[in-house]
Amino acid sequence: MVAPVESVRVLVVDDEESIAQLLAGILRNEGHSAEYVTDGRIALNRVRDQRFDLLVTDLRMPELDGMSLIEQAKEIQPDLDALIMTAFASTETAVDALRRGVTDYLSKPFGVSEIREALSKVMESRAQRLTERQQVEALSARVESTEESLEQKLADLTLLHDLARLIAGSTSPLHDALGLIGRHYVADCVAVLEDGRVIDHYGEGGHRGIRDLATRARDQRCTQSMPGAVAVPLAAGALVVMRSFEFSTEELHLLGTVARDVGVAIENDRLRSGQRRAYVGIVATLIEAIEAKDRFNRGHSRRVADLAVRFGCHLGLPERERELLETGAKLHDSGKIGIPEEILNKKGKLTDEEYEVIKSHPVIGEQIILPLEFLAEARPIVRHHHERYDGAGYPDGLVGDEIPRAAAILSIVDAYDALVSDRPYRDGLPPARALQILDEGAGTQWDPDLIREFRAL
Ligand SMILES: [Fe+2]
Repeated sequence: MVAPVESVRVLVVDDEESIAQLLAGILRNEGHSAEYVTDGRIALNRVRDQRFDLLVTDLRMPELDGMSLIEQAKEIQPDLDALIMTAFASTETAVDALRRGVTDYLSKPFGVSEIREALSKVMESRAQRLTERQQVEALSARVESTEESLEQKLADLTLLHDLARLIAGSTSPLHDALGLIGRHYVADCVAVLEDGRVIDHYGEGGHRGIRDLATRARDQRCTQSMPGAVAVPLAAGALVVMRSFEFSTEELHLLGTVARDVGVAIENDRLRSGQRRAYVGIVATLIEAIEAKDRFNRGHSRRVADLAVRFGCHLGLPERERELLETGAKLHDSGKIGIPEEILNKKGKLTDEEYEVIKSHPVIGEQIILPLEFLAEARPIVRHHHERYDGAGYPDGLVGDEIPRAAAILSIVDAYDALVSDRPYRDGLPPARALQILDEGAGTQWDPDLIREFRAL
């Protein structure tokens, strides 16, 4: 007994109209919608116009044979099932037809039970195809999501690994860590706040309300969010990540781990800057001792450092860069430790050879701090504080923007202090006169934009 089948839309094709008509009639009686045509080409047109589930066709027809019709019809409706009817059903014909995507065949003459049986096979094959397709879709969706989450996990692990590495080895662990986090989260800005103050940040995006958000995260000891920002508590503040799109649960979870690393980075940062300050203090004392031997140079480096910090504030430099500028300013003449005193403090005019010796002090200064990794960022300031905007300076003859900005800033402050200080051959110049001299050197010795800013100080 063959199971009853649901209703299907059938197109019957046979050049013998009586057979086509008969078959369509039987199919309708069985509850299906069926129509017939007597020409393969007409059948193709119908397939183009209308959706069918099943095509039942005679194999031998004058204009377009059954197999060609099936092939062309399947190109139009790939889901179409096909049955063939033939009076000459040999085994080879049947096997060939099945291989070419025909579900079953009916041998003429056939009765209602053969038709039912063939239809039942068609429905079974349809159902199986559907199930297989659903399974494949479900499987590929699962593979895709597994791949995605694996990729994400790998990216997360890489982030944690990179964070650990740079926290241990970087000269500015906090700043580098924020950069890494910012890039991982595709954030507009990542900042660490303590007591409502941004102590370091990556990217731009001063967001309204992040101070309150950070304070809330710190006080309540749990993650806080608002549109465009998330704050995770740290020991003494919060890590805030700002971006325009939502954070997933996984991302927020990872942020908790990341915040612990940031805490370590802050500790290491303070340790490094403590070391830096201690070392800079020692070298600065040495420099002051040398400068103290000459009454004209006494206190020069300290004054330059103070003025450089004021100028840095005026220029709106971030705290980190200001601190670097101060360090660079305190150390800028450390190379004078290596210059013979009789040349350094010579009262009369220097010979060419003596002048060459003096000119070596930026490079000697750089060498003094070279072994100290935590002063790496101050090296270019020390080396280049005697470069000139027009390229006529030393030691490298850098031009314009090639000169590190901190070194260009320092060079102005350095010159100003020298101008207003007493020299063996003249008294210190009044500030107005000193500024005038700086102005005359704008565009040749110094960056004209910086000179304009310095005058506005
Ligand atoms: Fe110098």
